[in-house]
Amino acid sequence: MSVHYNKEKRVFTLHTSKSTYQMKADEHGFLLHTYYGAPVDDSDFSYLIVPDDHGFSGQPGELALERTYSLDFYPVEYPVHGVADFRIPALMAGKKGGVPALDLRYHSHEIRSGKYSLPGLPALFAGEEDTDVQTLEITLKDAYEEIYVNLLYGVYEKANVITRAVTVENHCAVPVELKRVMSMSLELPDADLDMIHFYGKHTGERQFERRNLLHGITEISSRRGNSSHQHNPFVILCEKETSEQAGGCYGISFVYSGSFRMQAERDQFDSLRFVCGLSDEEFVWTLQPGESFTAPEVVLTYTPDGISDLTRGLNRAYQNHLIRSPWKNKRRPILVNNWEATYFDFNAEKLLKIAREAAELGLDMLVLDDGWFGKRDDDNSGLGDWKVNEKKLGCSLRNLAEQIHGLGLKFGIWVEPEMVSEDSDLYRAHPDWALTIPGRLPNHSRNQLALDMSNPEVVDYLKRSLDEVLSSADIEYVKWDINSNLENVYSAAHPELSQGAVRHLCVLGTYELKEYLVTRYPHILLEGCNGGGGRFDAGMLYYAPQIWCSDNTDAIERLRIHYGTSFGYPMSSVSAHVSVCPNHQNGRVVPFRTRGICAMQGTFGYELDLSKMTEEEKAEAKQQIAVYRENYDLFQQGDYYRIASPFENHDFTAWSYVSEDRSRAMLGVVYTDLHGNPKPNRIRWQGLQADALYEIEPLPETLSAAARCQGLAEHTRYTGAALIHGGMVLPKPQENYDSCMVMIRRV
Ligand code: DGJ
Repeated sequence: MSVHYNKEKRVFTLHTSKSTYQMKADEHGFLLHTYYGAPVDDSDFSYLIVPDDHGFSGQPGELALERTYSLDFYPVEYPVHGVADFRIPALMAGKKGGVPALDLRYHSHEIRSGKYSLPGLPALFAGEEDTDVQTLEITLKDAYEEIYVNLLYGVYEKANVITRAVTVENHCAVPVELKRVMSMSLELPDADLDMIHFYGKHTGERQFERRNLLHGITEISSRRGNSSHQHNPFVILCEKETSEQAGGCYGISFVYSGSFRMQAERDQFDSLRFVCGLSDEEFVWTLQPGESFTAPEVVLTYTPDGISDLTRGLNRAYQNHLIRSPWKNKRRPILVNNWEATYFDFNAEKLLKIAREAAELGLDMLVLDDGWFGKRDDDNSGLGDWKVNEKKLGCSLRNLAEQIHGLGLKFGIWVEPEMVSEDSDLYRAHPDWALTIPGRLPNHSRNQLALDMSNPEVVDYLKRSLDEVLSSADIEYVKWDINSNLENVYSAAHPELSQGAVRHLCVLGTYELKEYLVTRYPHILLEGCNGGGGRFDAGMLYYAPQIWCSDNTDAIERLRIHYGTSFGYPMSSVSAHVSVCPNHQNGRVVPFRTRGICAMQGTFGYELDLSKMTEEEKAEAKQQIAVYRENYDLFQQGDYYRIASPFENHDFTAWSYVSEDRSRAMLGVVYTDLHGNPKPNRIRWQGLQADALYEIEPLPETLSAAARCQGLAEHTRYTGAALIHGGMVLPKPQENYDSCMVMIRRV
């Protein structure tokens, strides 16, 4: 089995297919972290911890004379404030009103088969058939008080993932206050490591950045109440030499959708401590006697085989153990969304005009975006009033849905449950349901306020409202948006609680509502959204198998956004649409072909007024839809490879999908610059079977590279080894932002 306990040495060794993780409860009861890296045997790695008398690194409690023993440089599994360890702690807690100092020692442990679950929180799961999955729970206890900390480890042997979570229990007779509860800490010795992280902004999410971790603390965080456009709760730590194709790397993903904090401290002896968990800037959580607190889950993975391998491993783990939606393996509809086509200016007639074109083109679904409810002709009013505006629409939602179904299309709608407009019936009836700070003018974003999702009455109202809408018509898809940060965080329902507690309670309220929705309407395809990709995190994937990746629909900017997103998330979860040119976000003009090829990187759709397309565009769209449909399994389930990075290669970006059995593959290329007298652009394929023979498959002329490059002519054959090592010369671009696809099949 994957969790081994050496009783004599009190060593816990966790094995996955590509990693080993080890901890040891030492002779003083401190739980030390001894190893995480490439697979090794069960040797006790504590020999790597060398006692020494280091100045200004003190001794805990009774060890005053053991001057060579200090938790200030020992690798600690779950560091706390209060034991002469001055590096970043994972936990700060103590009796309410007292000093938040703890001294945690090993108390007991339990090894169970299967995976623990975290009530009310998203987390990886294991089915009965997943017999390789085990849970290790190590309980630590404060040396002075009845405060217990349970460290949870979910060990997925085959999926090569170790999950972490923490619960804190108060068995004292008085309240305990938690000031900081990180979900994990990880110590890596000799860590001259790089960190890859994904920063961004609205309409420019998940931009790739790689930097060496220097001395001091490097932080990636969000205090916005959402995981945010600005920083994503996923990072990779890797050796300097690690590349896509080789080298050791760690992936760390927080399964949470609210404010978070990831900190990496490179210390005085060049060791790295990395902690990840809830943002603690305002956090205070009181545990009454007998109560416990659960910190959300973190997913850890390590591979010695490069970043590309890390991505594929994580993708599979999410596909098999995180995404629950029945839609994950079903064909998702190719849809048209009316947002960029009409914004708020629509009625049933306009929508049906788009729907008729959609049916003509062979699309599967029309999604009615913002503006169908309450008084909502712009973004200043109506949020919270989830009643269809029949006057605007000119008919009932049921009637509209029926007409759309009559055209052979499915029907979906947009909602933004967690927000409220002050100009709404809901706000007029329940002003105290919005987060506002008494006596202060609230801050606004998009002229709206956040609902107090920590208030059960609010969550109940939203359940009832959504029930009414979803039972009023045959609705097969819901796009769940949220268009502000959490501002003015004060809950009238919990005046005694601190902002930090309310922020977390709001996320729990959102999760409760999502759980309700996916349980009650399992047939509905839920798409996540946060003004585009401001809540693109593993927590959301537990509820929604796909997420609107960005409000930026420009194909060229999307290259970077898709590239960054692809490191930590399956491309099948990336919602991507073809939109109109000049693009509404940046005014760029890009060929229709390129818009299609770029959107086919993810879950494909359109977002423009189809009735205004030229005949040429319609013909191209038909070809795109046909190609996407024919190759659906390859695009949605295939292994994704980043071939040329938009952050490094200024001339073109390239990626590929390879089927799991390596019998088929698709290459997508988009040119991002043009040159006189250009050099030949060459790419090397990845993931193919070296000793197999591949043949270039026909594609419609508008998408294909074949027509433009002799070496890529249909039915030309190459060995896998030739394509991997020799590569392929791409056709010359013919115009600005040109693009092409190459499809190959094993013969
Ligand atoms: C932000 C989303 O990302 C858009 O796609 C659209 O749904 C608007 N909100 C609607 O207000």
